Amino acid sequence: VVMDKPIGVFDSGVGGLTVVREIFRVLPSERVVYFGDTARVPYGTRSAETVRRYAAECAEVLYGHDIKMLVLACNTTSAVALTELREHTSVPVIGVVEPGACAAVAATGTGRIGVIGTTATVESNVYAATIGGLAREMRVFSRACPLFVPLAEEGLTEGPIPEQVAQHYLAPLLANQIDTLVLGCTHYPLLRDVIARVVGSDVRIVDSARATAENIVELLNSRSLRSPNGKEPRHAFLVTDAPRWFADLGQKFLGRGIGDVIRVETGCPVDGPANND
Ligand code: DGL
Repeated sequence: VVMDKPIGVFDSGVGGLTVVREIFRVLPSERVVYFGDTARVPYGTRSAETVRRYAAECAEVLYGHDIKMLVLACNTTSAVALTELREHTSVPVIGVVEPGACAAVAATGTGRIGVIGTTATVESNVYAATIGGLAREMRVFSRACPLFVPLAEEGLTEGPIPEQVAQHYLAPLLANQIDTLVLGCTHYPLLRDVIARVVGSDVRIVDSARATAENIVELLNSRSLRSPNGKEPRHAFLVTDAPRWFADLGQKFLGRGIGDVIRVETGCPVDGPANND
């Protein structure tokens, strides 16, 4: 039955695990199949055409796992590939941009919203367009923060180095007197404390992971796709490269151990549960 099928979650690498963490919190009975394209990360510095091609290939792998819905737990992919992916499948597809944009509109008092993300996300202008579609009077100020992804992946999330980088990126947004800042990249929640210190307590920080998980709940409820309550489901984590790196680093993003990580090519498994070399 459809209800018993897993939720497919896709990201270019480990960042999407911040969304999985929220899914586990609000939907503990749902089985998740996570796919991280670690062989080709980062997506955020690539062209929209390339990201669309990669995303379509990865989605095929998840469809092969008979998923009941697809979650694009990556802002870059949500920004440039969501529409095309939706056109090619009957499975419901949701991204992280719309939930984040809605949460930002709900959070702002002054209508001055800052958005940070990868170069591809910022260049797509998707947040400004989505926020503008929700409420015309909003002003959106965006900034690409390409160094945040490697900092998060290096585990360099505290101390003077990330703080200086954050100051460099965020100063122009603060000069525009934003009162809300959207973390428009699934890696950025790891840098949340540093970002919060730099922007100060007057700026609300919006993390789309929580809003996305709530959207997933709504979608499953409205289509009667909720898994019947049962025992702790067995999740699967698939990557295109470096399973050990993914398992080690992924714990920080997920907030708990990951277990076996399986390496796949786009299409077929090349390893069993990895011995991780
Ligand atoms: N997870 C991606 C995002 O949310 C960032 C990492 C990448 O550049 O691939 O945009």
